[in-house]
Amino acid sequence: MPSIGNLKINSKVMLAPMTGVTDLPYRTVCRRHGCRMAFTEMVNVKGVVYNSRRTFEILRTDGEDSPLGLQVLANEEKYIRPALEKIEGMPFRVIDLNAACPVKKNVLAGYGAALMKDPEKLKKMLGIMVRHAGRPVTVKIRTGWDGDSVNAADISRMAEDAGVSAVFIHGRTREQLYSGGVDYDTIRRVKESLGIPVIGSGNVFSPELAKKMLEETGCDAVLVARGSQGNPWIFADAENFLSGSRMNPRPGPDEIAEVMRSHLDMSIAFYGAFRGIRIFRKVFIYYTKCFINSKPLRRKVVLMKDKASAEDMIEEFRVSAVRHGGIVRSC
Ligand SMILES: Cc1cc2nc3c(=O)[nH]c(=O)nc-3n(C[C@H](O)[C@H](O)[C@H](O)COP(=O)(O)O)c2cc1C
Repeated sequence: MPSIGNLKINSKVMLAPMTGVTDLPYRTVCRRHGCRMAFTEMVNVKGVVYNSRRTFEILRTDGEDSPLGLQVLANEEKYIRPALEKIEGMPFRVIDLNAACPVKKNVLAGYGAALMKDPEKLKKMLGIMVRHAGRPVTVKIRTGWDGDSVNAADISRMAEDAGVSAVFIHGRTREQLYSGGVDYDTIRRVKESLGIPVIGSGNVFSPELAKKMLEETGCDAVLVARGSQGNPWIFADAENFLSGSRMNPRPGPDEIAEVMRSHLDMSIAFYGAFRGIRIFRKVFIYYTKCFINSKPLRRKVVLMKDKASAEDMIEEFRVSAVRHGGIVRSC
C-alpha cells in the first residue's frame, strides 16, 4: 500500500480533488463506501491568508473525514508561508500544490497548469511548502501544457528534488482539458524516473480501469474523480477487485435512494437548507444520470426548492428505477 511521507494509506484508490464537488458531504458519502484517502477541492492560498469565508467553508472537516489532504492553488511565493501558518493546527495530513488546473482564468493568472511552463517558480514554491508545511507536501501535475510540450518527467524530477513526498499526475495535457485519451506512457515514464510514489489520474471510471492504470503505468495508486460522481460504491468495488475478493452486488434503487437521502441531509446540515438543496440538485443528477428514462426527472431538478420536494424527487426516481428494471444503467 502506498505511503505519502509518513502517512500510510490503506488503499490504492483515492478520491481526487474536484472543485464544486468534493465538499465534506460528498467526501463523507465516499468514506462510508470505502474511500480511505481524499482531498479537498483546491483553495487559493490568498483566500486562506485573507480569511475568505468560502475558503474556510472548504477547509471544514471532521473526524470521519480522515486522512484528508488539502489542495492549494498558488502563483506567488509570498502568500504560501502565511497561508501555511494559518492552517497549522488543522488536521490535513498532506498539502498538495495544484499545477494541473486547466481553467482559463486560473492559467492566465499563472495558477495551476501554467506552473508547468514555469518550472523555476514551481520549484521555489514547493521548496517553501516543504520547509514550512510541517507535513508531507505533494504536487499535482498534468502530462504537459500541450502535445508539443510534454514535460511531466522533468517537472516531477524537479519536484522530487524540491522535497515533495509524492506526485499526482493527470494523464492529459492542459490543452486536452478533461477529454481525450489518457497518456499511460507518460505516467509510466514519470513513475520510472522517480523514487517517490506516483499516483495516476484520468478516466478511472471502474475497478477494471483502476487496475489497468496501475498495471500499465506501474503507478502506486490511482485517483478516482468523475468516476465517483453518483457512484461512491466504486471505492469498495475497486478495492475488492484489486485484491481478488468477491465484488458486492450492484446497488439497487432502494440503496441508491437511501444514499441520496443521507447526502441530502448532510448537504442541508453543512450549507443550510437554501444552498444545501441547490447544491444537492447536482448530486441528484450524478446519481440518476445513468438510469434509463430518468431524463424527464432530471429536467425537473429546478423544482427542488426545499427538503420535502427533494425527498419527493428521490422517491420518484426510486419508483421509476424499479419500474424500469432496477439497476439497468445506460452509461
Ligand atoms: C468538476 C471537476 C473539478 C475538478 N477540480 C479539481 C481541483 O480542484 N483540483 C485538481 O487538482 N483537479 C481537479 N479536477 C481534476 C480531477 O482531480 C482529475 O484529475 C481529472 O478529472 C481526471 O480524472 P477523471 O478523468 O477520472 O475525471 C477536477 C475535475 C472535475 C471533473
